[in-house]
Amino acid sequence: MTVSPDVLGSINIEKDLLGDFVHVVERAAIASARTMGQGDAEAADQAAVQAMRKAFEGVRMAGTIVIGEGERDEAPMLYIGEPVGAAAPEGVKFPRVDIAVDPLEGTNLCATGAPNSICVMAASEPGGLLHAPDCYMDKIVAGPACRDALDIEAPVKYNLKSIAKCLDRRVTDLVIMVLDRPRHQDLISEIRAAGARIRLITDGDLSAGIAAAVRGAAVHAVFGTGGAPEGVLTAAALRCLSGEMVARLVVNTKQLEERVEKMGIKDPKRIYSAKDLAPGSQIVFAATGVTTGALLTGVRFFAEGCRTHTLAMTYGTKQVRFVDTVHMTDEPGPKGVRLY
Ligand code: FBP
Repeated sequence: MTVSPDVLGSINIEKDLLGDFVHVVERAAIASARTMGQGDAEAADQAAVQAMRKAFEGVRMAGTIVIGEGERDEAPMLYIGEPVGAAAPEGVKFPRVDIAVDPLEGTNLCATGAPNSICVMAASEPGGLLHAPDCYMDKIVAGPACRDALDIEAPVKYNLKSIAKCLDRRVTDLVIMVLDRPRHQDLISEIRAAGARIRLITDGDLSAGIAAAVRGAAVHAVFGTGGAPEGVLTAAALRCLSGEMVARLVVNTKQLEERVEKMGIKDPKRIYSAKDLAPGSQIVFAATGVTTGALLTGVRFFAEGCRTHTLAMTYGTKQVRFVDTVHMTDEPGPKGVRLY
């Protein structure tokens, strides 16, 4: 079949590429899940990176990594600025797509077999995802009920009261997720002093942020400082879920100041909303569970293949899908396809 260049140019990222992006995160999850519990975080990450990079080769897009594994000189694959996607045939132009990836969020979680490690990507039209440097970011994340109720410059107590009011409950009823880090000592004391309850997590503030934005995940907000790349991916997910987020880059060295400026960020102290971090009008967010967590079941292997569980969301077309896939490596055995 000959496909006209015009048709390909008008591809809608959400409608036409969602299935491909689900495949990308599934492949990364299957590869990294093979390393689960081996105690080697680097090998787990490498497996995810390589599988994700390879899967992108089948996607009919002119993709550019805007959030990735680091700068070109420090990451061999999925580095910022790397072109990804299938090679376009002569005379055909594939659509330009900006891509943010965290091939394995929670490398230590995967290496130790702990819950909540996921393989993640987001995509948008060019300019739809902030090109954030690989630094820290202060974040508060909550669900849609907390619209305009968060203030990153206000005391912790103020934000907790505000969240409690929006959720029609007492501060003492709130569960706040915080990364268990020495830098969060004061934050943890302030949350405890205000009376809210805390769930400390060893890693994974991105999956925590998604959990906070949906109802029934037993977490009401995420507070603290985590990675800025994870912040942009969280924002992409929150745009699809109408969640609320306020964030600010932590630019505390001269070197970082220069880097931020080089990336085109004029005000390093700027306070970002989810929309500022992921302003796209077409946004796809996809995440596959590697180890079982609050929202996603991890990869399960069996003789004929494996089964994955993926969250696939779009902003413009307003869809939140849970994709449960059985991947068969071979013909089903004599007992047929096993669904567990
Ligand atoms: P990795 O996936 O790279 O292991 O990062 C996990 C993570 O916990 C993120 O969720 C979080 O944003 C960041 O690390 C926090 O960084 P640090 O470990 O330096 O506190």
